[in-house]
Amino acid sequence: MDRLIIHGGNRLTGHISVSGAKNAVLPILAACILLDEPVTLHNVPVLMDVRVMIRMLNALGLRAEYCDTNSVTVFPARCLKTMAPYDLVTAMRASFFVAGPILVRKGFAKVSLPGGCAIGARVVDIHLMGFEKMGATVSVEHGFVVLKAEQLVGCPIDLPFPSVGATENLMMAATLANGTTVINNAAREPEVCDLGNFLNTMGANITGLGTPSITIVGQPRLLGNKEYSIMPDRIEAATLLLAGIITGGDLTVKHMNPQDLTAFLACLKKMAVIVDVGNHSVRVQSSGQFSACQFETQPYPGFPTDIQAQLMAVLTVANGVSIVRETIFEKRFMHVNELQRMGAVIGVRSGEAVIEGVSHLSGADVRMTDLRAGAALVIAGLAATGTTVVHGLQHLSRGYENLIGKLCDLGAKIEPI
Ligand code: UD1
Repeated sequence: MDRLIIHGGNRLTGHISVSGAKNAVLPILAACILLDEPVTLHNVPVLMDVRVMIRMLNALGLRAEYCDTNSVTVFPARCLKTMAPYDLVTAMRASFFVAGPILVRKGFAKVSLPGGCAIGARVVDIHLMGFEKMGATVSVEHGFVVLKAEQLVGCPIDLPFPSVGATENLMMAATLANGTTVINNAAREPEVCDLGNFLNTMGANITGLGTPSITIVGQPRLLGNKEYSIMPDRIEAATLLLAGIITGGDLTVKHMNPQDLTAFLACLKKMAVIVDVGNHSVRVQSSGQFSACQFETQPYPGFPTDIQAQLMAVLTVANGVSIVRETIFEKRFMHVNELQRMGAVIGVRSGEAVIEGVSHLSGADVRMTDLRAGAALVIAGLAATGTTVVHGLQHLSRGYENLIGKLCDLGAKIEPI
C-alpha cells in the first residue's frame, strides 16, 4: 500500500476506541533495557515505529516478541550490547532513547546520531548535556555519539527547554544512577508520566511526574516480572475527533483520557462544536459549520504540536480567519502546500499560518511529508468534494494503528492502493 483514495463527503458517526500511545510505548520499550527480569506490555499499538524499537532491542541482545496482537514480552539480555546501529537510529529518532539505559547499565554506549528529520533539525544536545552533568564524557566519532561513565551520579539537571525525549532519556538513566537526580524544567507530557509510572511499577523511585521538577532516587536494580498496560493515544483520539467534526459527524471516541487533551478540547469549544466530555470518552457533534480559532503550540499542558496539522486541516473550512503559531518545530507547516492544492487559503510567515476559511475543499493528489501532516491530509480528504489521492502512506503506518480501518468503520470511504 502506498496511496489512499478518499471519496469525500461522508459523515462519520458512531463509537470508536483509541489504541495505545505511540509516544509512550517507544520509551517504555527502551526502558526494558533497565530491567533484570522479563516484562509483558499490553495495549501496545501495532505500528512501524514499534517494530523498529523491537528490532533495536533484539539487536542489543534482549528478546522482544509479540505474545498477542497488542502484547509484547521483553526478556533481558544475557549480555547487553553497547552499540545502537545506524540504520535503526536513523529510521526513527526515538531509537535514541536507548542511550541512557545502555549507558547506565554498561558504563559505555555508542549510539548513532539520529540526524535531521522532515519537521526540523531535532538535535539531541539537551540529552547529552544531562548525561555530562551526571558524569559521562560525551564525544561524537564518525557519526556516533560515544558516552562513557564508570558510574552515573545523580545530580540536579536544569533543562533549557522541557524536551520530552531528553526528560525521558535522563529519567531512565537516573533510575539506576548512584544517588538522587532532580530534573528541573522537565517535560510534563502524559507520556513522560506513563514512562515514570512504568519504571515505578518495576521498582524505581520517581516522584514529581507531571510537574516541572522530577526527582529520581537511584536504585541498585529494577526487577520486572510484571505486566504493564500502555496509556491511550491522545493524539489518535484528537485526530479521530477532528475527522468527525470536519465531516459534520456525531462521533464518540472511547477508552481515552480527556484530561490529557484539555488545551485541544478548549479549542473545540471556541469553535462552537458541541463537545461532551465523559470520564474516558469524548463525543463531538458537528453540523459541519464551525468557527475559526487561534492557537499556539506549546509544551504540555499547552496545545500539542502533534495535533497542529490536523486541526489546521479542519480550520481550512471554518467560518472566518484562524491563526496558528507553531513554536516547537521550525518546519512543521509542510502540510500547508498540500492543503493549498486542495483549495485551502493559507498564508505562512515566520512560524505563523493565517487560514481564511473557504466553503469547501476540492479533492486532489497530495503527498504526506510526515506522520501528522499525513493525518491532516486524510482529514481534509474526508470533507473534500470528489476524490483525494494521498501519496506516501508509509508515514501513516509509523504512528497510527489501523487509522483507515477505524475511519471506514465510522462511515468514511477510503481505499488503500
Ligand atoms: C516528542 C514526541 C513528538 C512530539 C514532541 C513534542 C516521541 C517519540 N516523540 O519528540 O511526537 O512532537 O515530543 O511534543 O515522544 N530539542 C533540542 N535539543 C534536544 C532535544 C530537543 O533543541 O536535545 C528541540 C527539538 O529540536 C524541538 C523541541 O526541542 O524543536 C522539542 O523536542 P522534544 O520535546 O525533545 O521532542 P521529541 O522528544 O523529539
